[in-house]
Amino acid sequence: MLAIGSDHAAFRFKEEVKAYLDEKGIEYKDLGCFSTERTDYPIYGEKVANAVASGECEKGLLFCGTGVGISLAANKVPGIRAVVCSDCYTAALSRRHNDTNILALGARVVGIDLAKMIIDTWLNAEFEGGRHADRVAMINAIETKNSSH
Ligand code: RB5
Repeated sequence: MLAIGSDHAAFRFKEEVKAYLDEKGIEYKDLGCFSTERTDYPIYGEKVANAVASGECEKGLLFCGTGVGISLAANKVPGIRAVVCSDCYTAALSRRHNDTNILALGARVVGIDLAKMIIDTWLNAEFEGGRHADRVAMINAIETKNSSH
């Protein structure tokens, strides 16, 4: 199960991605927003991040104008490794080497067809573990060390 979310700037984009996921039979939980009315991306970044960090959803997809703000918000939740990207190479390597658990895309940056390719690439790439697991553990240690401020 995927958790998905967006702000108003990417609401229509999210609807198009949902139609694509429906076509492919991929299950998702839409955590908003639910219209083009102006709202704030941190709300949805946090909601999707919590759904993933709690284990309720396996991975998450987030969209805002650039993908930047919503990924920054998601990355504040412990255990979240959100990547914003606009190419398939970064999407694949972010899974294989960094074990990213949220993919963020900019609705004003990538066209919907490229977005679908990036999503497919990201969903199908597997974490390679090994030395990469050691580095992800180092990232987690930074989080723990700095959790009190
Ligand atoms: C909203 O105008 C815009 O700032 C937001 O969607 C996003 O691009 C922020 O990073």
